[in-house]
Amino acid sequence: MSRFTSEAFRHNRESYESLYRGEPAFPGAPAPDGIPWDIRQAQPRLMELAALGAMSGEVLDAGCGLGDNAIYVACRGYSVTGIDSSPTAIEQARARAADAGVQVRFDVGDATELRGYDGRFDTVVDSALYHCLDYDGRQAYAAALHRATTPGARWFLYCFSGDNVNGVIAPMEAVPEADIRDTLGNAGWHIDFLGPTTFLGNTSGFTGSFGKLPDAVLRQMPPGLAEQMRRMAERMAMILPLIDDGRIHLPCTVVHATRAD
Ligand SMILES: C[S@@+](CC[C@H](N)C(=O)[O-])C[C@H]1O[C@@H](n2cnc3c(N)ncnc32)[C@H](O)[C@@H]1O
Repeated sequence: MSRFTSEAFRHNRESYESLYRGEPAFPGAPAPDGIPWDIRQAQPRLMELAALGAMSGEVLDAGCGLGDNAIYVACRGYSVTGIDSSPTAIEQARARAADAGVQVRFDVGDATELRGYDGRFDTVVDSALYHCLDYDGRQAYAAALHRATTPGARWFLYCFSGDNVNGVIAPMEAVPEADIRDTLGNAGWHIDFLGPTTFLGNTSGFTGSFGKLPDAVLRQMPPGLAEQMRRMAERMAMILPLIDDGRIHLPCTVVHATRAD
């Protein structure tokens, strides 16, 4: 299998933009029935953080997607900037903020670069961006966040883990704990806490391109990703008919980190 073929199936900025436009994320995949993370509300685990007073100062929502987390935090009185590489997501996030009657700055941008934000943020929220990046992307992202934050800033990170929640596994390759520890440590972030948690997904997102990839497409994917997608699709096919609220809990790692210098 050529590197080019594998690369075509890697989750990347273009595949997310396609999903937001309602188009197949990968060549040959079906069009999505929904966005798996679009639950039209903030993530419950993030709402808990906000309620416990963990956030302060200027807040960055990195990879903000459709903006519901940023909007929730802004509604609680914080100054919030949401950044996402997808222009379509940012357009929809702006519309959702307008509907909610709240002020949020939403910018199209690359979280692995974060140009123009030096020394700006006191709190960073990452709700399922970290696992979207490859190894080099994660290194660049951790370094970019270091530049974009103030000394002592806090970074709250949620990314898919290799655990399962009542048999439900993550729809993508998980990021191992050692990778998180190395990446954050090397970029000047001290990990205060790392543990298991859950991410709430929208079941309709798993009946489209995430959940029903044809064998011809799976065969062309990197073997690890194809196996993960296959296993997830099998389990989703059994579980989704039993779920009646359209919501599914996915296994995550949560990290609380502090900028060390
Ligand atoms: C799984 S979604 C999560 C969206 C949102 N945080 C949430 O919890 O609903 C990941 C998001 O990261 C964005 N993304 C992927 N790579 C990015 C990059 N390099 N810079 C900025 N955003 C990126 C995607 O467009 C997508 O909106």
